[in-house]
Amino acid sequence: MSDRSTHWDNVYATKGETEVSWFQDSPVISLEMIRTANPDHGAAIIDIGGGASRLVDSLLREGYRSLAVLDLSANALDAAKRRIGPAAAAVDWIVADVTTWQPAKTYDVWHDRAAFHFLTDSRDRAAYAERLRAALAPGG
Ligand SMILES: C[S@@+](CC[C@H](N)C(=O)[O-])C[C@H]1O[C@@H](n2cnc3c(N)ncnc32)[C@H](O)[C@@H]1O
Repeated sequence: MSDRSTHWDNVYATKGETEVSWFQDSPVISLEMIRTANPDHGAAIIDIGGGASRLVDSLLREGYRSLAVLDLSANALDAAKRRIGPAAAAVDWIVADVTTWQPAKTYDVWHDRAAFHFLTDSRDRAAYAERLRAALAPGG
């Protein structure tokens, strides 16, 4: 396990969902941005560094059927899965470092709230951009 994932796993192991400084009850701005992109309900949407965010809950409620959440921390994704319950089975949960992840498919919407800015090394930012280019469908 990398130092990075250990760090984030510890954060999610020691703090409850609502105790982290970035917690939001309803991800209003993200939802507005996604709606503005106007994807149909079958569009593939990925939340990069989604952690335990409630964005995926809202998207499931809105009827989106092809959702993925990627995060370094298995603890974060487990917390989201527990909260969502059986409906979580419809989501693709990806435990990976976005800078080394090998996307297996393309996505129509790439969402990132407060993950990219942790990449303080220019090589990590370049690796992120490379994945973004590879994984985003034309017009995404
Ligand atoms: C500040 S939290 C934001 C979580 C979520 N996007 C939200 O809005 O609630 C940053 C998240 O990015 C994840 N993260 C940080 N670096 C990452 C990386 N290199 N690859 C994947 N996830 C990463 C962390 O595990 C954490 O869940």
